[in-house]
Amino acid sequence: MRMIYNPILKRDVSVIGFGCASLGSRIAPAEGLRSLEYAYDQGINWYDVAPPYGDGQAEAILGSFLRSRRGRVVICTKVGIDRPEISPFKRLLRHPARWAVRTFPGIRRHVSRARSVGTRPPLDPKRIRQSVENSLRLLQTDHLDVLALHEPSPEDCRNPVVIEELQRIQKDGLAGVVSIAGSIDSISAGFSTSTLFQGAQFEDTPFLQNLRKLLQENRARQPYFAVTHSVFEPSAWSNVDMLLRNSGRRFGLEGQPSEILIRYALANNPTGTVLLSMFARAHILENCTRAAEQIDPAIVQRLDKLIAQQALPVNK
Ligand SMILES: NC(=O)c1ccc[n+]([C@@H]2O[C@H](COP(=O)([O-])OP(=O)(O)OC[C@H]3O[C@@H](n4cnc5c(N)ncnc54)[C@H](OP(=O)(O)O)[C@@H]3O)[C@@H](O)[C@H]2O)c1
Repeated sequence: MRMIYNPILKRDVSVIGFGCASLGSRIAPAEGLRSLEYAYDQGINWYDVAPPYGDGQAEAILGSFLRSRRGRVVICTKVGIDRPEISPFKRLLRHPARWAVRTFPGIRRHVSRARSVGTRPPLDPKRIRQSVENSLRLLQTDHLDVLALHEPSPEDCRNPVVIEELQRIQKDGLAGVVSIAGSIDSISAGFSTSTLFQGAQFEDTPFLQNLRKLLQENRARQPYFAVTHSVFEPSAWSNVDMLLRNSGRRFGLEGQPSEILIRYALANNPTGTVLLSMFARAHILENCTRAAEQIDPAIVQRLDKLIAQQALPVNK
């Protein structure tokens, strides 16, 4: 595993991180724990979670994994979206739903849509503190390495009451670094309002170019780190698949879409961490193999050129 020094966290972190959004929902707790352990053995030391992940179970499952490893891993959890209420009926459906998704992967999107989502009441100091204390209890730790606002609005990120409570949480030693996990508009709103925010987490694919937008909008900003995700977003996958079939070779791009997408993600965010969902052992192995390679910066130019040549839309 290639490690990189994160100057904000002041420690080495793995260039890929483990995303726990499905831990406890699509992925049963025992299976999830096995995947966390396997990924850890391959050198992954960044784990991303949030109160609503895994139908509200992910933090507790990650907490049991952390017990003997806490000092050796980076944990990011979030505040802003509550744990969903899962009715006893839906709880009963969990097991057959997992079986159905495993047997017929095509239905996964429909099952995900039927999932209960957490509410997002307005952010206020009491709610923020309660959420952080609850996360710490479930994660069985006394501090978070990164606390991120979870899909906040630009107004939330400018709100002095929210910023002051986050500052108090940091001062009390409950969170090391405060970050924003959401849209580039929200991240830029927070970055231009307060130096408290030192991390940005957002989706990025060759068709979004969000990191470029963030860098452009925050040129004069004090240092921060970027965590990107949604590498295998389905439309990015199918576009890259089509491009590789049609003209990949002419542009020096060969391989499976997964290979190209992850190499692109790593080369495009060379100083940050790329989050991946990887519960399948084969996915952990492939992603760790890619993450052990030296970055080839040329892949970014080549794929961007191919996308431009085929006139595929890119949100600049
Ligand atoms: N607002 C936010 O902060 C936010 C939003 C979205 C996501 N996230 C974070 O990012 C994490 C990743 O989520 P994502 O949406 O970006 O998912 P993703 O990493 O794009 O993964 C999507 C799917 O790709 C599969 N996959 C992984 N490696 C693969 C490979 N080498 N080849 C083929 N398929 C592969 C995964 O399967 P398996 O998992 O079954 O192995 C998963 O089903 C989340 O868990 C969460 O922690 C944060």
